[in-house]
Amino acid sequence: MTPSPNFAGTLFDLSGKTALITGSSRGIGRAIAERMAQHGANIVVSGRNIDAAQSVADEINAGKGGRAIAVAANITRHEECLNLADAGEKAFGKIDILVANAGLHIQVGPSAEMTDEALSKTMHGNWRALHVLSQRLLPGMCEQKWGRIINIGSIAAHFGSGVYHSYTLSKAFSMQYIRNIAVEHGVSGVRANTISPGLTHTEMAAGLINDPDKLARELSRSTVGRYAEPDEIAGMVVALACEAGGYVNGQTIAVDGGMTIRYD
Ligand SMILES: NC(=O)c1ccc[n+]([C@@H]2O[C@H](COP(=O)([O-])OP(=O)(O)OC[C@H]3O[C@@H](n4cnc5c(N)ncnc54)[C@H](OP(=O)(O)O)[C@@H]3O)[C@@H](O)[C@H]2O)c1
Repeated sequence: MTPSPNFAGTLFDLSGKTALITGSSRGIGRAIAERMAQHGANIVVSGRNIDAAQSVADEINAGKGGRAIAVAANITRHEECLNLADAGEKAFGKIDILVANAGLHIQVGPSAEMTDEALSKTMHGNWRALHVLSQRLLPGMCEQKWGRIINIGSIAAHFGSGVYHSYTLSKAFSMQYIRNIAVEHGVSGVRANTISPGLTHTEMAAGLINDPDKLARELSRSTVGRYAEPDEIAGMVVALACEAGGYVNGQTIAVDGGMTIRYD
């Protein structure tokens, strides 16, 4: 039997841990980076635009928590994912936590119009980057008997959709991947989980949030009557990353203001 951990300290301490967070220059990823740093983690901030990533790293470094570096990486490119992991290990020695947050949502329309190019690019961004980074980082996590892989999914993939084909397919694929990794590596001290946000106040959701009709339709399913702020997604990520989340494995957790439990 695997030994139980020692709970002498706080359940929410990330001191001494390093988190690599894709797409952390704005939106949900930025909130995750800032909140994890507050709890003591060192952070690898990334996105395609290095200036935006660097300003998040600078802000973290001006604060009291963990330290941060910024690395440019396009998650649809295999080599750039590997470079991102290399740069994180070079700066901090090891990477304990992977948050696969950056996501692509590039084609909306009927399945008959879904192009191979859009499907392939979306799968590369929303699933393959998770796989490439997991494959790269899991040996180190297993060796030290502690690791966290947190996939940012979407409640869109908990439903059927007539228009969000490539996006929901890729997110559903990632959720299954996480379950597989959880089974394969749980006894090695790794926890792998998906957090599925509901509608969240970011640039990606601006098209829904700024259109009163679309927003009203979205919120009609909400049990709390509003969309999420990025910090509300980050809170659950921090919990899963800390010892507090040590007995959660392979799950898909909806952080959605109750949108997915509503029937009437
Ligand atoms: N907002 C919502 O309502 C909502 C709901 C459900 C799920 N989600 C999921 O939450 C995650 C974060 O979304 P968000 O709303 O925070 O988006 P966002 O505000 O648009 O931020 C996206 C972040 O990802 C980076 N990024 C975008 N494309 C990238 C690429 N190809 N390679 C590397 N980095 C890339 C962006 O930086 P650069 O542009 O510089 O690359 C930025 O840092 C996504 O996986 C999304 O599917 C969001």
